[in-house]
Amino acid sequence: MLGQTACVAETAPRLSDGVLVLDAFTLLDVAAQLAGEDEEHARRFGWYPEHSTEETVRTSILRWQEEWRSGGRTRTFAARDVHSGELVGGCEIRLRDQGIAEMSYWTFPPHRGRGLAARAVRLACEYAFSELAVERMELYVEPGNHASRAVARKAGFVEEGILRSQGVTLSGARRDMVVYSRLPSD
Ligand SMILES: CC(C)(COP(=O)(O)OP(=O)(O)OC[C@H]1O[C@@H](n2cnc3c(N)ncnc32)[C@H](O)[C@@H]1OP(=O)(O)O)[C@@H](O)C(=O)NCCC(=O)NCCS
Repeated sequence: MLGQTACVAETAPRLSDGVLVLDAFTLLDVAAQLAGEDEEHARRFGWYPEHSTEETVRTSILRWQEEWRSGGRTRTFAARDVHSGELVGGCEIRLRDQGIAEMSYWTFPPHRGRGLAARAVRLACEYAFSELAVERMELYVEPGNHASRAVARKAGFVEEGILRSQGVTLSGARRDMVVYSRLPSD
């Protein structure tokens, strides 16, 4: 079982490509994460018209910290500007069985279109391949999410097709999803 053999870390490692840093979310990030979640974010993550609150963000960050501490199956990174340290978004690896994992990612509105999500995905993928024994990383993206599809392509993923009704929103609505994969050899 991958979740049991993958390395256990006290907290998220610090990964950087010289422009972006990925590291651990802390409770100091609550206000920035909350302020960064716009309607597009809520729609794409399937919880619109609900929206996050200070309490739900706080609970999420505590859960993300516990997942790192316990070597859990969800590994969430904060994405920060390397110079200012400003929180610009995040990304998450969800470990499945047999060397397969899924990722999702987000960038706050003022920082979109600067290539940051693609950088975050690349950094997190390299970490997952080298440290978490992942052999196939998957992305599930709504066909109409053109920005996310561009991120997938830029981060070296291969489009494999459409999975009908694969996604389910919080309210139970089903959505088609485009599946992408990246292998360590890609
Ligand atoms: C998807 C998202 C993460 C992209 O973040 P980002 O940091 O702006 O991504 P990047 O700058 O790395 O790349 C964005 C790409 O999308 C392209 N793009 C943006 N809007 C687009 C649109 N409406 N149509 C087509 N392409 C679009 C940009 O041109 C860019 O591609 P390029 O560099 O080849 O020009 C961000 O829009 C977001 O947080 N959306 C809400 C959450 C979400 O959808 N997450 C993904 C769930 S699978």
